[in-house]
Amino acid sequence: MPETVFVLNGPNLNLLGTREPEIYGSATLDDIAGILEDRARELHLEVDVRQSNHEGHLVDWLHEAQAIGARAVLLNAGAYTHTSVAIHDAIKAIRTPVIEVHLSNPHTREEFRHQSYVGMAAKGTVAGFGAASYLVALEAVIRL
Ligand code: DQA
Repeated sequence: MPETVFVLNGPNLNLLGTREPEIYGSATLDDIAGILEDRARELHLEVDVRQSNHEGHLVDWLHEAQAIGARAVLLNAGAYTHTSVAIHDAIKAIRTPVIEVHLSNPHTREEFRHQSYVGMAAKGTVAGFGAASYLVALEAVIRL
């Protein structure tokens, strides 16, 4: 049985493809999921890609990752990255390694995006490579 990597996506990422494409690119979340599924197969892993606009769902899924023994979590918490102490605490509460992912590079954007409650608790961060950020993060999982 291949080990599972959770790929958790937060608010507004369901609109990828049409949402500010000059910042986030033209790939949809389904496109990204397809790319990750193909690469995961080659790495003898399985990805479980989810999206929610609700903070508590992300907290519950982080707990679930540990409960099912997931190998790792790739987490793009969207705007909750910059606001959510609950998600920060959930990352700290589990032993499952969490890799923070962003399509854009928040550090080159508005100041309110420079603080990351996710990054402060995560194993590492991949940001700024568009959809490829997820792929780079998946490659990092096998090196953990
Ligand atoms: C994002 C960056 C966040 O600042 C923003 O709120 C998002 C997307 C990214 O992937 O670049 O929703 O997480």
